Amino acid sequence: MANRPGREERMAMLMRLRSELVGLDVEVPLLDGSRRRYVNLDNASSTPTFRPVQEKVNEFLEYYSNVHRGTGFKSQIASWVFEEARHAVARFVGADLKHETVIFTKNTTESINKMARIYPFRADGVVLTTVMEHHSNELPWRRRAEVVHVDVGSDGSLDIDDYARKLVQHRGRLDLVAVTGASNVSGWVNPVHRLARMAHEAGTRILVDAAQLGPHRPIEMKPHTDPEHLDFVAFSAHKMYAPFGVGALVGDHDALLAVEPETVGGGTVDIVTLDSVYWRDLPDREEAGTPDIVGCVALAAVIRLIEQIGWDVIIEHEERLTRYALDRLSRIPGVSVYGRVAGESLDDRLGVIAFNVEGHDHALVAAILSYEGAVGVRNGCFCAHPYMLCLLKVPEDEAARVRDEIISRDRSHIPGAVRASIGIYNDESDVDTLCDCLEKISRREYVGTYEMCKETGAYVPRGEDCFLFERHFSLDPRLP
Ligand SMILES: Cc1ncc(COP(=O)(O)O)c(C=O)c1O
Repeated sequence: MANRPGREERMAMLMRLRSELVGLDVEVPLLDGSRRRYVNLDNASSTPTFRPVQEKVNEFLEYYSNVHRGTGFKSQIASWVFEEARHAVARFVGADLKHETVIFTKNTTESINKMARIYPFRADGVVLTTVMEHHSNELPWRRRAEVVHVDVGSDGSLDIDDYARKLVQHRGRLDLVAVTGASNVSGWVNPVHRLARMAHEAGTRILVDAAQLGPHRPIEMKPHTDPEHLDFVAFSAHKMYAPFGVGALVGDHDALLAVEPETVGGGTVDIVTLDSVYWRDLPDREEAGTPDIVGCVALAAVIRLIEQIGWDVIIEHEERLTRYALDRLSRIPGVSVYGRVAGESLDDRLGVIAFNVEGHDHALVAAILSYEGAVGVRNGCFCAHPYMLCLLKVPEDEAARVRDEIISRDRSHIPGAVRASIGIYNDESDVDTLCDCLEKISRREYVGTYEMCKETGAYVPRGEDCFLFERHFSLDPRLP
């Protein structure tokens, strides 16, 4: 990129970014009555934003207006900004707008559902996906095709031999390979270009769910003539520091034009008569109604921020922090981490770390981290039930028993794990806060008495009202 500062300066920029995090210094109540700075290690779920992005959003709000056919100056600015954001997304994933289209959606889930609805599946088509998928890259396909799953190994990594076997087995009926770029549970990074090459050799296309990959690694769709080209990519802005409600589906223009638009209405048409309609070209025909222009501004701002900082320093920082976290976790008695925990290189792993503490329910650990450590994590199965059951090696009869319990509204025995996930602004002190608290948990030195709610499976401290949220946040605006 032209005029980009050198590596050291960019690393310094990344370090300064922490102090620009919106909400970095927010203190939250703890069980002992004190308050403590919140440590967010739930980035795989959603990320906070940075002040420069917030400032861009505020600046744009002064010009806010609807896009497309407005003739006022503000509307023309909004239309220009919206299309610039589209170009920023194309650049971000390496798409060629001569062959690919960028469709703005709400999030990855909507992108994949849209793809499932408008992609030209054959009546007996097969979607080859994997056991490690988030439900959002699994359930939409079931509505349109036979879904076949590639296995994972005992460490949770993708079984490439099984992938190769299934490509052969279903050759001729394969309509699509749909695979995650990185797991939201174990952090495994899949070799998407190798998978793409193999998919193309088998005569099919590939979609990469880049919800987790996008914030941590460059996405390179590569030229459409390249055998390693990614045909479709879906991601969410809220997982990459732009939590304002947009996502994107990027992919082969002609393939997405094959059927009628998914949602119809304003913005999708060239001509409407009382008994006919002529659809616009992509992307307009797939962006019915008024888009999330503010969200697009935020996404474009983040993309520019990432481009300035550069993936080399982002990856270096996150790998260092992931290694640090894995190392500290490995020394806590009773803590076991799922997926890859050590090795020369962390190329094939993100800082998405799922673990359990022996003798403690994952939901209890997550509650204590919150109420006694001010650490935000997530627990459960992370919308990846089949994968989680594999990682935890839950026998089928036990899984069936728990399923029956859940259906009868008892979630008290749900298998699962705790997940800590890092973002570019986290540092060693955040990992230390997590691990210090986990050490106390492992020594059973936590102070609260927690009760589980059977219906939700969550633990809450008994009789505490400092956690009544209306005391901390009100939706009433300041009155003029
Ligand atoms: C791998 C993966 N795919 C898809 C999704 C769904 O993303 P969204 O909720 O933004 O639609 C997630 C969310 O956690 C995810 O981790």
